[in-house]
Amino acid sequence: MLKEVSMLTKIFSLALICGLVLAVTPASAAPKEYIGVAKCKMCHNKPATGDQYKKWSESPHAKALQSLKGDEAKNPKCLKCHSTAFGLELSDTQPITVAEGVSCESCHGAGSAYKTSTIMKDQAKAIAAGLIMPDEKLCRKCHNPESPNYKEFNFKTYSAKIAHPNPAKEK
Ligand code: HEC
Ligand code: HEC
Ligand code: HEC
Ligand code: HEC
Repeated sequence: MLKEVSMLTKIFSLALICGLVLAVTPASAAPKEYIGVAKCKMCHNKPATGDQYKKWSESPHAKALQSLKGDEAKNPKCLKCHSTAFGLELSDTQPITVAEGVSCESCHGAGSAYKTSTIMKDQAKAIAAGLIMPDEKLCRKCHNPESPNYKEFNFKTYSAKIAHPNPAKEK
């Protein structure tokens, strides 16, 4: 009996410590909010800088929800890779929808903190605010054998198929 009580005390203090650690986590680590593709489109729709919105909207990623038929479109096991918005706890201020499929923010990170022009123009600042410049590892979160339609993923050829570079930038 005594042993059990002391065990309980231990568990309780552990829970208390965890709570304290959470409470002192700095605000900068607060989760970024997803803003949806319409916001990115406002600036990334100009042919002179690559019209990333158009390139994406013509890519399979933009149509990923439409590939799911009937009940599949409600199946969490499919939605987790076929939609950016699925599974997010969305507030009213987050206009992203499941219908957007695999949108900008699946690859570039939630945009609420990096979406302003001043931050966007400065890569270091944008990355500090949550922007992701995606690499192969990120693609493989979805392009892996867990997908029932998995095809061998080659980063180079697959990246070329969805490329949306900014021609105004010198590389
Ligand atoms: C208010 C305008 C604006 C909005 C909104 C905006 N961007 Fe940008 N973004 C820019 C500008 C300006 C640049 C710098 C020019 C460039 O690299 O194309 C940029 C650059 C980028 C880059 C390249 C960064 C680099 O350093 O190479 C990515 C990736 C990007 N934006 C993604 C997004 C995504 C995803 C969204 C929506 C979540 C978004 N942007 C919303 C204006 C905007
Ligand atoms: C959030 C999940 C997710 C991420 C991350 C992701 N993809 Fe995809 N991708 C998909 C889905 C789902 C499809 C299938 C869309 C459809 O046709 O329904 C797809 C399709 C594609 C296709 C078309 C394949 C074909 O058979 O025609 C290419 C190319 C592609 N992705 C490249 C990439 C690259 C490159 C990356 C990383 C930079 C990436 N994807 C990251 C989910 C993802
Ligand atoms: C682990 C992520 C993942 C899961 C889970 C997933 N998919 Fe996919 N799906 C993909 C990717 C990535 C592609 C693109 C095919 C490729 O090139 O590998 C794809 C492609 C597809 C396609 C297009 C097939 C084609 O070759 O044109 C259909 C249809 C599809 N998935 C249906 C489903 C259904 C139904 C489920 C749930 C039972 C599901 N997917 C679960 C990632 C996933
Ligand atoms: C499937 C993943 C994926 C999706 C979806 C995606 N991007 Fe990208 N994006 C990339 C990759 C990969 C790069 C190249 C990264 C690099 O150069 O290191 C890139 C680069 C960019 C750049 C920089 C271009 C340059 O040449 O400087 C911009 C701007 C951008 N994306 C905006 C967007 C916007 C806006 C959307 C949605 C409309 C979007 N991306 C959707 C993967 C994606």
